[in-house]
Amino acid sequence: MSVSRPAAVIVLAAGEGTRMKSRLPKVLHEICGRSMLGHVLAAAAELDPERTVVVVGHGREQVVQHLQHVAPGVGTAVQDSQNGTGHAVRMAVESLREQGVELSGTVVLAYGDTPLLRGATLAGLVAAHEEAGNAVTVLSARVPDPAGYGRIVRDADGVFTGIVEHADADEAQLAIDEINSGMYAFDGALLSDVVKRLSTDNAKGEEYITDAVGILRGDGHRVGAALAGDWVEIQGVNDRVQLAEARRLLNDRLLTALMRDGVTIVDPATTWVDAGVRVGRDAVIEPQTQLQGRTVVGEGAHIGPATVLRDTEVGADAVVSMTVAHEALIGPEATVGPYAYLRPGAVLDRKVKIGTYVEVKNANIGEGTKVPHLTYVGDADIGRGVNIGASSVFVNYDGVTKHRTTIGDHARTGSDNMFVAPVRVGDGAYTGAGTVVREDVPPGALAVSAGQQRNIEGWVQRKRPGTPAAEAARRADENSAASD
Ligand code: UD1
Ligand code: CA
Repeated sequence: MSVSRPAAVIVLAAGEGTRMKSRLPKVLHEICGRSMLGHVLAAAAELDPERTVVVVGHGREQVVQHLQHVAPGVGTAVQDSQNGTGHAVRMAVESLREQGVELSGTVVLAYGDTPLLRGATLAGLVAAHEEAGNAVTVLSARVPDPAGYGRIVRDADGVFTGIVEHADADEAQLAIDEINSGMYAFDGALLSDVVKRLSTDNAKGEEYITDAVGILRGDGHRVGAALAGDWVEIQGVNDRVQLAEARRLLNDRLLTALMRDGVTIVDPATTWVDAGVRVGRDAVIEPQTQLQGRTVVGEGAHIGPATVLRDTEVGADAVVSMTVAHEALIGPEATVGPYAYLRPGAVLDRKVKIGTYVEVKNANIGEGTKVPHLTYVGDADIGRGVNIGASSVFVNYDGVTKHRTTIGDHARTGSDNMFVAPVRVGDGAYTGAGTVVREDVPPGALAVSAGQQRNIEGWVQRKRPGTPAAEAARRADENSAASD
């Protein structure tokens, strides 16, 4: 398929999206880790157009700010009042003209609320358009429920004559199941002219870009409708029910691609992945798992059940179960969870074990080191082959600043230790149970901070008389007196 480089892609994103009932402009709602607009722009970028223009209006500041973040190369045109899709395209054409750009060659138009769109589909549309030498080619689709869409009207011979919007359609037209996807390839020069001639004589009193088809045909130009192979990908999102449907469909597409690449997805119905996620062969994803953002999972790793990884890298053959991890790095063959929480900057080397109820933040943990139970590790550098005793806290915050703790290779720290940072435990050092490590421990030393244990005899019966504890103590006294 030979396709020319489009002169421009215009993406409409100025509408309010009233039906979303949201503070957020519709096109900024997310599915699979990207805004709907972001998905459309990613598909458009595959055409490598000379320029991309997004028409902004409602919630303009938010949309422009978002664009600077996700697609800094695209231009914007402002549509101050939302007078329809045709008016929006006119704003784009006029804005380009002000910059000295007169459109010629192919111009692709898409809407910012069709997030399932694929670049290959747009490329197919451009190819069909250029092959036929059309003034405009509309991507159409046959859908099970055409309600709300513009209908593709054909004459008795099946020749495409125009588009009629749902609100303007008569009963016979409402029965048409071939709809306008909202994606078009135009001849740029003809588009620039036709947008000046759109009327507002319709149910909504708006300038419809869909009217361009009838006008261009009336001028004697060729117009065409290219039927999309997969109606699913042209679904527009107008409310949150459709948002959820689109998310499910895109998720299915992403999971299918992973499975085809050799990843086992145990339960596709409860597994959610974002568009930027990569997973290696023979990895197994257990139910109720979400892989988000730029998460990368290595070959043979086992993730889940009930695990959420965001912007996290997991090495080959690691095992991560019932865990939440954000911006963490999990080394190959490491095991994490169940019930672990890895926060930004948690860096686990090869074969590290992070066990149950362990939280790790901003800490480097060396090869083969174990943090098995009930522990908080924050702002630390832990060497290799270390064992951290159960129920320990890296006390990193003095109320004003955060400090680091360093633990040397092969150290073994006791249960219930407090490492009061800044502090260092040397290579091969030991610490006793219940140690509050306030001072550095030299390599090979045993640190013990708890003082001699002191028992105050009879304290409970004197200070807590009448309690079950005092009663139990009294009985124990009696028994020992009787056996004397
Ligand atoms: C539109 C089409 C319809 C098609 C459907 C496909 C028109 C007149 N109708 O209807 O034929 O079947 O999409 O999904 O084109 N927008 C602006 N400025 C405006 C109005 C809209 O930028 O003044 C933007 C919106 O932000 C949105 C897109 O254009 O991204 C489509 O607008 P929407 O109101 O959702 O059109 P539909 O009623 O879905
Ligand atoms: Ca729509």
